[in-house]
This record gives sequence, structure tokens and C-alpha cells, in this order.
Amino acid sequence: MLKIKLFADGANLDDMLAAYQGGVVQGFTTNPTLMRRAGVMDYESFAREVLEIIPDRPISFEVFADDFETMYRQALQINTWGENVYVKIPITNTKGESAVPLIKRLVGDGIKLNVTAILTLEQVQATNRVLSPMIPSVVSVFAGRIADTGIDPVPLMTAAAQMLRIESKAELLWASPREVLNVYQADACGCDIITATNDILKKLSMFGKDLDELSRETVQMFYDDARKAGFQIEC
Ligand code: E4P
Repeated sequence: MLKIKLFADGANLDDMLAAYQGGVVQGFTTNPTLMRRAGVMDYESFAREVLEIIPDRPISFEVFADDFETMYRQALQINTWGENVYVKIPITNTKGESAVPLIKRLVGDGIKLNVTAILTLEQVQATNRVLSPMIPSVVSVFAGRIADTGIDPVPLMTAAAQMLRIESKAELLWASPREVLNVYQADACGCDIITATNDILKKLSMFGKDLDELSRETVQMFYDDARKAGFQIEC
């Protein structure tokens, strides 16, 4: 039985609505890249439309300025869009300057944050120091991007979970999962949340599937596709 909460990662309104109505996920994450990919033209209108249909589960919308003063103002604005909104703040700007002072300021304003694009334990530590156990917050570590570099993210995620439990009580989110196995890894290493794209969420139904049967189904797929393609070998 999984303890971890599943969030849906994406910006397709129909998929978000289906995930909400399906009751599988307990929250949602978006980012500017996912929104652009989904064809969103107007950031605020899209966010407000989403919040109309999903008014009662945590959902993150990200600031996208690159200077901390504008990020601060965007964060205040985004925060007014709904009670269930978490404002996503990237851990640095594009120059690599730390957003920790901004995070501290927003926490002082009582704003629920999702600190995003975290890839190192040092970033988790610095964030942990300025978040408050009084203000709900999420720390998103991009485990999949860590894995993309050839490093196993599990030890880092385990250490991050322990660190956050002691001080800020922020929820640890395993971001950028690459495969269904990551859901079980994230659960085992103490993450509170994993956010996943539709493809991964759909495959969760395969949990515990008999591997002999899965092998047979795989062969069936090859057989059916060869027939549908009309392949022939003279023999
Ligand atoms: C979640 O909040 C992140 O925006 C998302 O999981 C990032 O995924 P990616 O690293 O695959 O782009």
C-alpha cells in the first residue's frame, strides 16, 4: 500500500479534469514549459480556468520572471488566484543566483510555496532553513533530472526527506519521474508526493501484474502488429 500522494504533472485541461474526476491524484503541478507545450497562450486565464474546475486540491503555478523583485510581485499575484494555490519559485534565476532570500520573504508573507528545480542537497538544506513549519510548503527535487546525469537519486531523496522532517516540515516532492518504478522508489525513500505525467499515471494499474502473463501479452503485441502490417517471409 503506497503512502505517497500522487500529483498530476501537466497543463492539458482535459487531462487535468479527467485526473481530478478520476480521483487518482491528490494535487497538480504545472510549469511554464508544460503550459507552452500544451498550447497555453494566456497564463492567467489558463490558471483561472483550471482553478474553476479544481478548486479544492493543491495546485502549483510558477513565477516566470528572472529578477527577484518581479518574481516577488508575480508570486503575490498568483497567490490571490485561489486558496489551493502553491506558488512555484525556482531555486535560482537564470544567472544561478539563489532565490533563498526571496523564498524567505514570501514565507514571511505567509505564502504557500513550492520551491522548484532543486537538484542538490545543498539547495534542499538552504531552502529548509527558510521555510516555516507554520506555512504549508513543498520542496520539489528533480530526481529524474538527477538520474539523467547517471546519478542514482535515491540516496539524495532519502537524505532530503530526513532533513525536511526535522526542520521545516515541508513536503518532499519527487519531480520529473521517468518511469513507474520511481513511484515505488519515492514512496520507499520517504517522499511525501510524486508528480507524474499522464503516461506514468496510466501505467500504475500494472502494479503486481503477473510477469508470465505480461510476457505473453508482449508476444501477442508483436504477433498482432506483424499481422496488421502484413509482413511475410518466404520460407
Ligand atoms: C514538477 O513540478 C516539475 O515541473 C516536473 O516534474 C518537471 O519534469 P521534467 O524534469 O521532466 O521537465
